[in-house]
Amino acid sequence: MLASAAKLSDWIVGIRRELHEYPELMYEEIKTGAVVRRTLDELGIKYKYPMATTGIVAAIGDGKGPCVALRADMDALPIHEEVDVPFRSKVDGKMHACGHDCHTAMLLGAARLLKERESDVHGTVKLIFQPAEEGGAGGERMCDEGALNNPDVQRIFGIHVWPYLPMGAVGSRTGVFLAAAGVLEITVTGRGGHAAMPHTTLDPVMTSAKIVTELQTIVSREVDPLEPAVISVTTIHGGDAHNVIPQSVKMGGTVRSLTLDGLRFLQKRVREVAQQVAIANRCEATVEFPGNDYPPVLNDATAWGSARAMAEEMLGKNAVVELPPVMGGEDFAFYTQRVPGCFVVLGVKQDGDGPVYGVHHPLFTANEKALPVGAALHASYALRALEELR
Ligand code: NI
Repeated sequence: MLASAAKLSDWIVGIRRELHEYPELMYEEIKTGAVVRRTLDELGIKYKYPMATTGIVAAIGDGKGPCVALRADMDALPIHEEVDVPFRSKVDGKMHACGHDCHTAMLLGAARLLKERESDVHGTVKLIFQPAEEGGAGGERMCDEGALNNPDVQRIFGIHVWPYLPMGAVGSRTGVFLAAAGVLEITVTGRGGHAAMPHTTLDPVMTSAKIVTELQTIVSREVDPLEPAVISVTTIHGGDAHNVIPQSVKMGGTVRSLTLDGLRFLQKRVREVAQQVAIANRCEATVEFPGNDYPPVLNDATAWGSARAMAEEMLGKNAVVELPPVMGGEDFAFYTQRVPGCFVVLGVKQDGDGPVYGVHHPLFTANEKALPVGAALHASYALRALEELR
């Protein structure tokens, strides 16, 4: 499979670069989806569209027997690309900084590999191209709109490119792999006024500073040191003038745990602490957790065992690593809530000893030599899982 994929390398990389030039944000994956559908049409693969606004579900196989799903996400990020390559983003302020262009190209590579072997596909392989991984819970909507039904998916597999691992290495683990994550927004309201007469105001800037500091003690004093937890305040906006105490301050951030119960606990305590610190300082805090809380990505032991063995056969034992959990979130979690599955990361570190820029960084790059490896992993996993499920 790897040798076949290597022959498709230029084709897969070409698709990736085409997608990379025109990144699209969540639920706006119009051009991206058009590339996917054009490619599926060229390969003679049938698909259902639209699902979850811009999503696509294709199917390969004889339809007799088990069903396995492979998943890619298609959306980009509101980041301005700073990488100087000929195929850099042509859209100011948008960038494929999380490698979802690679994911989509690798899954199309797998589509071609599987279509060439369709007589060996005993059952159905569903190819899920989903929108809105980056906070839009596109995976949840795909599930709600039936991506896992008809035929019913019995196992699902997904890959994320990973710049921290050497090119072509594969990593994952059994159990919780990626964290439960939610968005945090706090508005602190006081009473503005002249900065020279603070006693006539209710100062939301000073109160916000106290809230940020106080929130840190939830993790350090209330959570078991052996239980991973994150509360990060990442934005603070308030005030326009050096001599004016503003009326209000807005803050944003993220709350994460390895369990949904842990996430709920952190959210409850963030709300209580922020509100009470505000009251103690004669202000008022409104605490919201808007958007979609992502559940943790839970890898099934059998699914990862199978992926691990498959990757070792393909790439060698040394290329496959057990990883500790990561506090990043992933909406692949919505699939693993419904069917057993496995999410793995694929090393895309550049050759040499240059600096590594992580995902969501304006200088993030992926080593494109890994793309045919990802396509081969997808296709091999599907065939192996179908065999195991028969
Ligand atoms: Ni991502």
